[in-house]
Amino acid sequence: MTRTLVIANQKGGVGKSTSAMNLGLALAEKGQRVLLIDLDPQGGLTAAFGIDSYDIRRSAFSLIMYSHVSLSRVMRPVRTNLALVPASIDLAASEVQLAGMADRVQRLRASLRRSQLPFDYVLMDTPPGLGILAANGLVAADEVLIPVQCQYLAMRGVRALMDTIIRIKKNLNPALRLAGLFGTMYRPDSVHAQEVVDELRSVFGERMFRTLIRYDDVVAEAPIVGLSVLEYMPRHPIAQSYRVLAEEVMRGRAG
Ligand SMILES: Nc1ncnc2c1ncn2[C@@H]1O[C@H](COP(=O)(O)OP(=O)(O)OP(=O)(O)O)[C@@H](O)[C@H]1O
Ligand SMILES: [Mg+2]
Repeated sequence: MTRTLVIANQKGGVGKSTSAMNLGLALAEKGQRVLLIDLDPQGGLTAAFGIDSYDIRRSAFSLIMYSHVSLSRVMRPVRTNLALVPASIDLAASEVQLAGMADRVQRLRASLRRSQLPFDYVLMDTPPGLGILAANGLVAADEVLIPVQCQYLAMRGVRALMDTIIRIKKNLNPALRLAGLFGTMYRPDSVHAQEVVDELRSVFGERMFRTLIRYDDVVAEAPIVGLSVLEYMPRHPIAQSYRVLAEEVMRGRAG
């Protein structure tokens, strides 16, 4: 059975794309067959694999917009056990084009349903905000994975996201459930970061994963050379954290 997860948080810059790449690699390393789908017009995840969003034809845009385009035509292998549906720059216009369609937030789901999915995991990276593309990811997924920056105000955004998840579950995707939340950009020497983590644990209990992804410059350095942290510095604590997170995700629940 394929598990379809969407990585979502409407707050920008919290580590969604970074986590999509490194968690995807960690799962692939463990022998899982993984498909990454980049739903962000900015194409951060696509760029991290060294692919230029301005220079591609077949992308998540075609998958969402055209019913005759199958997954096999838009995905490309990027690593062992890892394939990517890249984002192209025309994805930015799709929100406007989709706005007039009655099934605008169900299109990706329909597309994935029509496709063969020879994968154990589908991981979708979403843009910041709670627009039509992020909604497509939430409607197409079975589970939501939420990276939360260990900083003040992090909780505010999470509450809004929870409301959206509840609405989508009620109206569009009854099977949707919370896989869990995990802390990103965690600074172990910061009392404040620890307070944020404590608050998240008290609110979300076992739905908050044990793994905390620390703040480290290696995260920004690796994509410059088109690599995940797991490839760039395989023994780095950040790489290890994403491996442990992958194990937690594979166990199917937080904690
Ligand atoms: N653990 C970390 N330590 C240090 N820097 C990080 C970490 N995680 C992410 N970053 C950096 O923070 C920035 C934002 O990360 P990322 O692009 O993954 O966030 P995002 O949630 O996908 O952002 P957006 O909402 O804009 O798509 C990037 O420059 C990234 O390199
Ligand atoms: Mg991103």
